[in-house]
Amino acid sequence: MEQETLDLAPLYEMLKEYKTQRGAVIPALQKAQGIYGWLPKEVLEVVSQEMRVPLSQIYGVVTFYSQFYLTRRGRHICRQCDGTACHVKGAAAIVSAAEKHLGVKAGETTPDYEVTFEVVYCLGSCGLAPVAMIDDKVIGHLVPERMVDILDKLE
Ligand code: FES
Repeated sequence: MEQETLDLAPLYEMLKEYKTQRGAVIPALQKAQGIYGWLPKEVLEVVSQEMRVPLSQIYGVVTFYSQFYLTRRGRHICRQCDGTACHVKGAAAIVSAAEKHLGVKAGETTPDYEVTFEVVYCLGSCGLAPVAMIDDKVIGHLVPERMVDILDKLE
């Protein structure tokens, strides 16, 4: 699949605020990721130039913190919990149903970059087990059919 051309203008605009601040690399990277959904190489190069921080150091930061993504993510992020409480309430069947429906394994993104599917271990809502989080919405008492239905209706 051909890589889309990135519009770097919003990145340069955002960096105007950060490039004069010492030690602002992490917030600048967070903002950059907020713009693109992940951190492509071109974005890291611009951050490096504008912040006057060596690219190797930028890579050191983004590979250290799990909040940063170096591969393109889906437009929607679906996280199914398979922690203890959710597991005993049937989370594994929901994971299988979601993987089958999306045609990807946990940790992968659909080829059209619509959905990234992840398995996590406790979303802090064990009372609602089994729980998933789709984008910023927590969905409790899930069953496989409901998960498939929700994934189907994502816009
Ligand atoms: S184990 Fe699933 S929310 Fe806690």
